[in-house]
Amino acid sequence: MRLKLKTVFVFYFMVSLLGLVYTLMQLGQRCDCTEHDKIKDNTIYRLRGELHKLQEEVKKSDTTKPPKKPNLPTIYVITPTYARLVQKAELTRLSQTFLHVPQLHWVVVEDSEKPTALVRDFLATSGVAYTQLHTLTPKERKLQDGDPSWLKPRGAEQRNEGLRWLREMASASKGQQGAAMETSVVYFADDDNTYSLMLFEEMRNTQRVSVWPVGLVGGMRFERPVVENGKVVRFHTGWRPNRPFPLDMAGFAVSLRLVLTNPDACFDGDAQMGFLESSFLQGLVTMEELEPKADMCTKVLVWHTRTEKPKMKREDALQKQGLGSDPKVEV
Ligand code: UGA
Ligand code: MN
Repeated sequence: MRLKLKTVFVFYFMVSLLGLVYTLMQLGQRCDCTEHDKIKDNTIYRLRGELHKLQEEVKKSDTTKPPKKPNLPTIYVITPTYARLVQKAELTRLSQTFLHVPQLHWVVVEDSEKPTALVRDFLATSGVAYTQLHTLTPKERKLQDGDPSWLKPRGAEQRNEGLRWLREMASASKGQQGAAMETSVVYFADDDNTYSLMLFEEMRNTQRVSVWPVGLVGGMRFERPVVENGKVVRFHTGWRPNRPFPLDMAGFAVSLRLVLTNPDACFDGDAQMGFLESSFLQGLVTMEELEPKADMCTKVLVWHTRTEKPKMKREDALQKQGLGSDPKVEV
């Protein structure tokens, strides 16, 4: 019996000892926790560092942002556009440039009988201030399938419709709005070109007609007005330099005041090849009066890019088998 009690006591002692050893071992795990704490601390330090960096960047961007100028002249951008496979892509690219330009109003003029749903829905969600207009180019003035692209001017009626809207709006506006229109600028931006944001600040203070180079146009690396002693003296172009204004549509902007004081100034839809720009500018300004921008016309800030017409060979083949792309999906 005594022996048994001793056994129980020894057994009890052993279990307690094991418990103690186990507890001590658990305490020994501390160094893992320290490791864990170290990782946690490092993460906190790193995040704090990143937060600090971000705060600095926000501070910096706040100070580099130009101060808001309440009286910034408005730029009215008139864009002729017509329905085709790449239309939405073109308008998307343009709108995403214009979104970065302060005080810009986009006048989109469709070459169509009535406003289209695609353009209407697109503009409504574009985020750009806009006006949607339309006017159909008469059949006899419109390029037909297979015609070379230079045969007839494109976008003339649509630009004129934009000018008509501007004049109508100006005559209806009074007071402050009317005064703001006095300093506004008009620019004709085709839907397929590429525009640098810097271009819009160059044209913002146009007094009459401002001009600058255009890249990739007229079969040249660029065309431009040539400036001597701050004045345009001739034009660098590879074709008919004696045209009154051998400029591409993308190469000039006019003040709205000039448009309003010359109520008949418009584009001649019957102008011969290369004379469309001249038909508008001729009565408005002389070469000597042109205001050279973009570092005296030494910088290219707009490119006469042209989008390739997509080939639909496979689409047509699949459509014949009833397997064409879903027409309900807008492209
Ligand atoms: C060049 C000039 O850059 C244009 O400004 C000028 O209008 C044209 O020549 C011309 O001589 O008429 P180009 O690239 O050949 O441009 O012309 P497009 O880009 O095909 O058309 C100019 C604008 O008119 C575009 O915004 C286009 O969407 C629009 N357009 C074109 C129409 O509204 N309807 C059409 O049937 C074709
Ligand atoms: Mn074009």
